[in-house]
Amino acid sequence: MNKPIKPDSMPIPFIDIAAQRRRLGSKVDEAIARVMAHCQFVMGPEVGAFERDLAAFCGARHAVSCASGTDALLLVLMAKKIGPDDAVFCPAFTFCATAEVAVLAGATPVFVDVDAATFNIDAKSLERAIATAKRAGLKPRAVIPVDLFGLPADHDAIAAIAQAHGLFVLDDAAQAFGATYRGRSLGKLGLATATSFFPAKPLGCYGDGGAILTDDGELAGLLKSLRVHGEGANRYDNVRIGLTGRLDTIQAAVLIEKLKIFPDEILAREKVARRYASGLDNVVLAPRVPEGLTSVWAQYTIRVDGGRRDPLAAALKVEGIPTAIYYPKPLNRQEAYRDFLVAEGGVPVSERLCGEVLSLPMHPYLDAPAQDRIVEAVRKGLAR
Ligand SMILES: Cc1ncc(COP(=O)(O)O)c(C=O)c1O
Repeated sequence: MNKPIKPDSMPIPFIDIAAQRRRLGSKVDEAIARVMAHCQFVMGPEVGAFERDLAAFCGARHAVSCASGTDALLLVLMAKKIGPDDAVFCPAFTFCATAEVAVLAGATPVFVDVDAATFNIDAKSLERAIATAKRAGLKPRAVIPVDLFGLPADHDAIAAIAQAHGLFVLDDAAQAFGATYRGRSLGKLGLATATSFFPAKPLGCYGDGGAILTDDGELAGLLKSLRVHGEGANRYDNVRIGLTGRLDTIQAAVLIEKLKIFPDEILAREKVARRYASGLDNVVLAPRVPEGLTSVWAQYTIRVDGGRRDPLAAALKVEGIPTAIYYPKPLNRQEAYRDFLVAEGGVPVSERLCGEVLSLPMHPYLDAPAQDRIVEAVRKGLAR
């Protein structure tokens, strides 16, 4: 017979999508049922309705939904005709999709180091990367800052460098939609903002999905064409090379409902982050939000130095507390990305962070007793 699990050793979920399902009750099921009834599974009415809601949420003039966060990034590079001989700058410390799209577009990603305190692109390293690209005979065209773990990058510094060097800014807000930078919502910074609705993201759907936010009407028009095979006047008028890159109607229906509770979930995430900070501040390097910015806490990522990170993760696992390492290697060390360029001076901060970061369970439904158990286990694990 299995031994009954004691409540204080019950596994804690890393993210709790089921708790959100319970909160939403039958709303999502009813929204999906409406799509099942009208049967417009591709580009049904929910797609346009969701795009209007999403644009209104962040104040962008246009929201163009698409099949994933990766497609959102790629579609913008395609619209801007990024290609061979172009350099696209992105952090080395990010999810692979940020650099992958540059390669898919035919360009060269150039890896930039990040700031140790924010995990986001370091403006000085970006300047060095631009010089590196020029020396290699590439044309600097675009920078893709990432708002990692939910925290906006240093957008004013990036915008100034981008302007000085004629780059456009494509913000990778896959992890950070809903966050703000000095009073502006993500979606309003740079030429365009890409986001992802992968289920684990702060605003996730029940499959894959993504969107591009922009104030540029011409760009929005191009993106709408590109996501449907480069259609012109109609589907059988092919004026450019595109993708099958649309958001499914069912996912749009799910997102309409989820967006309604998103502001409340952002507040709940902030509360969880504050409780972690007060419990952990004096034992680990806890994340800090710079003045004037807000985070949506896609991850709560601590830094544990001196080789203590992996033993701590193992000790937490024994206590039923899952953790994750985002990211174990900087992209320039991944086999697929080894041959691309790295900013002069290398990416030492990214390298160091990969050995120190540890993400703890984080979601809006993490209750105080579970969180206290996590905090206690981290403190105990580090005291060993
Ligand atoms: C920083 C970043 N960029 C891009 C993506 C790609 O999003 P998707 O998985 O929806 O393609 C992700 C998400 O996984 C991400 O975390």
